Amino acid sequence: MMKQKYEPLFKSFTFGNGVELKNRVVLAPMTNFASNPDGTVSDDEVAYYERRSDGVGMVVTACTYATPNGKGFPGEFAADSDDMIPSLRRLASAIKEQGSKAILQIFHGGRECPSELVNGDVVSASNIPSEGEGKPVPRELTSEEIESIVRDFGEATRRAIEAGYDGVEIHGANGYLIQQFFSPHANRREDKWGGSLEKRMAFPLAVVDSVQKAVAEHGDESFIVGYRFSPEEPETPGITMADTLALVDALSEKDLDYLHVSLMDFWSEARRGVEDKRSRIELIQERVGKKVPVIGVGSIYTADDAVKAMESGVPLIALGRELIIDPDWVKKIKEGREDEIVTSIDKSKQKELVVPDALWNAIVNSPGWFPGV
Ligand SMILES: Cc1cc2nc3c(=O)[nH]c(=O)nc-3n(C[C@H](O)[C@H](O)[C@H](O)COP(=O)(O)O)c2cc1C
Repeated sequence: MMKQKYEPLFKSFTFGNGVELKNRVVLAPMTNFASNPDGTVSDDEVAYYERRSDGVGMVVTACTYATPNGKGFPGEFAADSDDMIPSLRRLASAIKEQGSKAILQIFHGGRECPSELVNGDVVSASNIPSEGEGKPVPRELTSEEIESIVRDFGEATRRAIEAGYDGVEIHGANGYLIQQFFSPHANRREDKWGGSLEKRMAFPLAVVDSVQKAVAEHGDESFIVGYRFSPEEPETPGITMADTLALVDALSEKDLDYLHVSLMDFWSEARRGVEDKRSRIELIQERVGKKVPVIGVGSIYTADDAVKAMESGVPLIALGRELIIDPDWVKKIKEGREDEIVTSIDKSKQKELVVPDALWNAIVNSPGWFPGV
């Protein structure tokens, strides 16, 4: 039997649009590098999702590219043409059949796209490469191209609706194109898409509008729209915590169903931009108040970690690595067997854990990324 202290994780949750989740645990979006070369989802990938979609209330898929030259990873699946709808539908159905809501994460990699995946045409807000050795110098997007990418996010949303997803998550985090427009490092434009804090928000907000327009035209109230962002950038110039709180204010006015704060450590503190020494997630939750539900994430491994995270005030928590390490995490807590939860990866168990080869190889060859490696 479940211990009483874990009950907060299992209370159902209702979004502003009336859609109910059976519990507070979300599978974080995780790229698996395992889709077919033509952009369709693979059998291995579908099996991976089936294995980890029964306990959680909501699954956010790996990111999918909305525009052909936004492909950011080898083995990333596609949402850039109507030909992909059957593939997208296959993944949505696999997740929903396990009893979870299925959310498609829509994306453009911008200057982080490997050159060979985009025919050498790496693009961004401006021609500034990201920091680090050997990063390609991106080509600055024209205004027409920007408008076209904004429309592509709407089109990807329409496809998600036609494929049966319960919602989409706009990937505005982790340094990819949407964040690049908000970033004073990547965005040095002087037109309507850059120059001031307000103008750096123009592209993220235009993407939100485009997605919401697609929902109004092709979907209904029950379709969930979330937005994921990273609170700060380490670069100078770079997004500060103060910038992020301004973005949070703007997003809070947009009638989104949730905001998802991308962090590797749930309790990390702000680097610059605010005096307050509380954690980023607490500052964001306080700023958002009751306007829109927040999902927190980052290094939650045990049942106690999860309960403690919820005490920060966020209504929903996402787990990434831990649900690769132990797909039975939710079930074990529900059955009072939380002491059986595995919190570091067992390198002999790829088959039981149902992890595609490409993701497994990335995990076991990246020391320090997953506990146990
Ligand atoms: C294998 C892997 C792939 C990831 N791919 C994505 C992605 O496609 N989109 C995204 O927003 N975050 C991605 N992330 C970040 C996670 O969603 C999450 O924010 C991060 O891993 C911290 O949570 P955790 O400590 O529970 O793993 C990925 C993380 C991992 C481990």
